[in-house]
Amino acid sequence: MKMEGNTVLITGGATGIGLAIADRLAKLGNEVIICGRRKDKLDEAQKESSTLHARIADISDPRSRKELLDFVVNDYPALNMLINNAGIQRKIDLASGEDAIKEGDREIEINFKSQVHLTAMFLPLLQKQENAAIVNVTSGLGLIPLSTFPIYSATKAAMHSYTLSLRHQLRNKGVKVFELIPPTVHDTELKGKPTARTEYSISSSEVADALVAGMAKDNLEIGAGPSLGWLRASGDEIQQIFGRMNH
Ligand SMILES: NC(=O)c1ccc[n+]([C@@H]2O[C@H](COP(=O)([O-])OP(=O)(O)OC[C@H]3O[C@@H](n4cnc5c(N)ncnc54)[C@H](OP(=O)(O)O)[C@@H]3O)[C@@H](O)[C@H]2O)c1
Repeated sequence: MKMEGNTVLITGGATGIGLAIADRLAKLGNEVIICGRRKDKLDEAQKESSTLHARIADISDPRSRKELLDFVVNDYPALNMLINNAGIQRKIDLASGEDAIKEGDREIEINFKSQVHLTAMFLPLLQKQENAAIVNVTSGLGLIPLSTFPIYSATKAAMHSYTLSLRHQLRNKGVKVFELIPPTVHDTELKGKPTARTEYSISSSEVADALVAGMAKDNLEIGAGPSLGWLRASGDEIQQIFGRMNH
């Protein structure tokens, strides 16, 4: 995959992993549009990386998704890469009643349903382009769940499965489908605030490096750090790691 001269939309690109990828791709000579719900975060991102284009959008709102598509079709008709990166993560106690899982509905909406809809909406545009690609940012927790984040883990497993089918259905349609599978990334605000680096975590900048290197080699499944091993683990190994993680 050619990694310069692309026009790229990154959902959730104003912070964390999305911003690290946006900054890296902009520096490589790509036109990069980021979107998210918070204007202050989009403004901060543009201060940090001055060539980024920004658009307020809530991908879980059908009207906002349509406005985002119309904006891109009008202003960036050469768009050839969609990076589905936006996401949220919630601790959920599955045993404490239906009210407790309402936050889980938001995770299903944002981490799964919205990405499937957005992808369907952008596919007609992407299929017109040379060098077209979709990148779905899943998680190692989609391969081996952390029970503290049960719905989050399940949405990432759903995205992993959907990505396999999407890749297969698009195999003759000129759109490459990549999956980026980060392990724990310690310097983002997904869990509320950044945490200290551990032997199992990597930084958002290391994730961006892995993505760019992997896409340049047409590696369709791009793991980084521990998640790379999890992708190739046997059923028995997955059970053992699950036990260690959820003791
Ligand atoms: N951090 C980790 O340990 C880790 C590990 C594996 C995978 N990941 C995945 O990496 C991706 C990025 O996460 P991160 O760690 O970089 O956390 P982050 O900094 O919190 O990034 C999430 C981004 O998604 C945006 N977003 C959330 N809901 C949205 C919506 N409805 N519409 C548009 N944008 C929305 C947020 O912006 P607004 O709130 O302003 O909308 C934010 O910029 C996520 O898919 C996450 O699951 C993270």
